[in-house]
Amino acid sequence: MIQNFDYHTPTRVIFGKGVVEQLPEVMKPLGKRILLAYGGGSIKRMGLYQKVKDLLKDFEITELSGIEPNPKYDPSVLEGVRLCKENDIEAILSVGGGSVLDCCKAIAGGAKYDGDPWDLITYKEETKAALPIVDIMTLAATGSEYDAGVVISRTETNDKVPYQSPYLYPVCSFLYPTYTFTVNAKHTAAGVADAFNHVLEQYFCSDHNMVADGFCEALLRTLIHYAPIAIAKPDDYEARAEIMYACMYGCNGILELGNSPSGWPMHAIEHALSAYYDITHGEGLAIITPRWMRHILSPRTMERFVSLGTAIYGIDPNLPEKEIAEQTIDRTYKFFESIGLPMHLRQVGIDESRLREMAAHVKEDVMQQGEQYVVLSEDDVYGILHDSL
Ligand code: NZQ
Ligand code: ZN
Repeated sequence: MIQNFDYHTPTRVIFGKGVVEQLPEVMKPLGKRILLAYGGGSIKRMGLYQKVKDLLKDFEITELSGIEPNPKYDPSVLEGVRLCKENDIEAILSVGGGSVLDCCKAIAGGAKYDGDPWDLITYKEETKAALPIVDIMTLAATGSEYDAGVVISRTETNDKVPYQSPYLYPVCSFLYPTYTFTVNAKHTAAGVADAFNHVLEQYFCSDHNMVADGFCEALLRTLIHYAPIAIAKPDDYEARAEIMYACMYGCNGILELGNSPSGWPMHAIEHALSAYYDITHGEGLAIITPRWMRHILSPRTMERFVSLGTAIYGIDPNLPEKEIAEQTIDRTYKFFESIGLPMHLRQVGIDESRLREMAAHVKEDVMQQGEQYVVLSEDDVYGILHDSL
């Protein structure tokens, strides 16, 4: 049965070739003093940095560079908040991947708050305002461009925490697929695995509906079809555009309208991996996904596996249900493997030494939040991690 919902995404999305030319007119109403934020230099290498500077020649630009993958509270968020306050910044422009944008969202909230921004990120204090955010995405993965979510890491405490507020929706996101041509095979595949997993996190739930299922299945088929093409031919516009479009829907709730909550368990587990070992988010998800699927397969969950496998892999619906479910898990594993993703924790430098600690961290921090489709105990999380070695 479709559950009630109340839905609003205020973000304007401008998608396609050449769209970034509209940047000045989008920024103009937001103010003159802009924080331009970016990562480790990819935007300079692809000429986008200079392009943005040229387009914004009539604005006063303050720069924040070097934002890390898995963006860090210290120094990046703190430095950004300081720059905004000192320079009386009116709007933030993020140019880069999900990490840069997430960092900008945290900065946007922190800049409008007098205390320690960590209070907002951990919900100790409510976010009541934020600077407006505009982004130019250069990597298709997170869906941060169309959602109000942020994930920030704090290295000293092994925390990687999700934070959400309606104030953190970007005002406008520019999705110009050509800017993703330079994303290497590793990050292209990791981005696809991230988006793939976002869909699965919302597909596996108790109450679901045909519209949501169809939407989810179409996105998965798109990713399965175009990922190998984009990896083989990085400048294939159609493949990059389809992937970018599919990724956009990941986390803004549209895929789970009318569904019951799922609890996003694989993300909870992966965030612990990234927090402890600073690994690439999508790679961690690719490793966890098939192990989580196998772990939760039961008569109660069987229907989801059958529905998924027949819809996205074309598995024969006349086979016994258990066999369809097993094939669905195997095909998911093989898809990730086929696009070059590591499929074992050891391949990303994780051994068994801290698995127990991470399982406890996951259980304590995240698993208690909200309703879970399949409730996982600390031992379950440990089991999934152990199977992933
Ligand atoms: O730092 P630069 O030099 O820009 O290089 C980046 C980085 O090294 C590079 N890159 C980005 N665009 C490029 C490029 N290289 C060449 N050409 C381009 N066009 O790619 C590397 C990875 O970038 P990053 O931004 O870290 O990747 P992604 O977009 O996958 O973001 C990952 C972060 O987002 C969080 C993850 O946990 C992780 O911290 N997530 C955010 C979500 C959200 N806000 O809704 C949801 C997700 O589930 C996810 O948790
Ligand atoms: Zn994700």
